[in-house]
Amino acid sequence: MSAPPIERILFSEQEIEQRIREVAAEVSQRYQGRELKLIGVLKGSVFFLTALAHELTVPVKIDFLAISSFANQQGAPGMVRIAKDLDESIGGEDVLLVEDIVDTGFTSRYLLQHLAARGANSVAICTLLDRTSRRIVQVPVDFRCFEIPDRFVVGFGLDYKQLYRNLRCVAVLWTKD
Ligand code: IMP
Ligand code: MG
Repeated sequence: MSAPPIERILFSEQEIEQRIREVAAEVSQRYQGRELKLIGVLKGSVFFLTALAHELTVPVKIDFLAISSFANQQGAPGMVRIAKDLDESIGGEDVLLVEDIVDTGFTSRYLLQHLAARGANSVAICTLLDRTSRRIVQVPVDFRCFEIPDRFVVGFGLDYKQLYRNLRCVAVLWTKD
C-alpha cells in the first residue's frame, strides 16, 4: 500500500539549511575548545546529524545507536530499549544526542539516562524538530531548530512507515481529519 500524499511543506530546504547553520553556530560556541561526540539515533537523525556536522567548527566524532519503542503489557506507550548500541565508549566525553524530533519525550529521556550512566562528561540534546504540545515527560532540549504544530510530519529523516525520509524539506502528511 502506498503512503498518503504530502499536504503542505512546513520548512523548505533553504529554511532548514539556514536554521541548521544558526544552531550549529550556537553548538560550536558552547563547545569551543573541546571535542564533541555526536550521537545519532537511527534512522531518523541521520540527515540532520550530517548537515549539522558539516557546519560545526569544533572537532567532532560520530557514533550511532538504534532504539525500538513499544507499549508495556498494560498497553501504555513509552517503553524504549536499545536495539543497536554505540560502537565506542563515551567515558569522559562531551556528548550531543542528535534527534530528529522530540515528541512525548520518552525516547530522549531514556537515552539521556542511558548515556549519562556511561560516564560521559556531559550529555546535551540537539533536535531538528520539537513538538512541546505533545510532551508527556520533561526533557531538557538544549538546542532545537524548529518548534512544530501537532501534525504528523515527514522528510529530512522523518518517516511514515520508512518512507519519505529522503525529502529535502519537512512536510505535513495528508490526514483525513
Ligand atoms: P518520543 O519518544 O515520543 O519523543 O518520540 C520520538 C520518535 O517518534 C521520533 O524519533 C520519531 O521516530 C517518532 N515521531 C514522532 N513524531 C513524528 C512525526 O511527526 N513524524 C515522524 N516520526 C515521528
Ligand atoms: Mg520513526
